[in-house]
Amino acid sequence: MELTIPQLQEKIKVWKGCALSKTANAVLGEGNPHAEIMFIGEAPGQKEDELGRPFVGPAGQFLDELLASISLKREDVYISNVVKYRPPNNRDPLPEEKEQCMPWLMLEIALIKPRVIVPLGRHALAHFFQKLSITSAHGKPQKLTDTVTVFPIYHPAAALHNGNLRQSLFDDFLNLKSFLDQQQSADAK
Ligand code: URA
Repeated sequence: MELTIPQLQEKIKVWKGCALSKTANAVLGEGNPHAEIMFIGEAPGQKEDELGRPFVGPAGQFLDELLASISLKREDVYISNVVKYRPPNNRDPLPEEKEQCMPWLMLEIALIKPRVIVPLGRHALAHFFQKLSITSAHGKPQKLTDTVTVFPIYHPAAALHNGNLRQSLFDDFLNLKSFLDQQQSADAK
């Protein structure tokens, strides 16, 4: 029988397969288990570590704003991260940390079965396409399989540091909405 997301939550709480679990709390994804669209960030930050939920700090507030700009709510989508623990001082996750946490992300994707995966930033994009740079690929749909499209977008935190990226993120979300609408009308035919 297939695991459920709450069962996965229970399993990750007792998992010690990543060195970061010594210093941080596990943060699995959350959202609609039947979501057609899944957002994947890099790793939890301080607020996420405190609350055990993804994207609930400043980057998460901006993500909520971006979702609202295309009439989506967190409950409509599924939101997760490549790495399931906060790296100390929010440093970039190490390659081995990404690798150790990878099976959790694979399990989440297998359970949710999204049609569109949105990697937020370069770490999540590299999980799917190692050679693509976020600077050139953001806002452009990439076919992953016959049924799954990857739609890369800058990480919302990047716009908190570099205000010029803010508009780019809103533009990419609008493109994402057009892509989702096109998919829906193709389904209706
Ligand atoms: N940044 C991320 O990549 N993920 C979070 O959950 C929060 C901030």
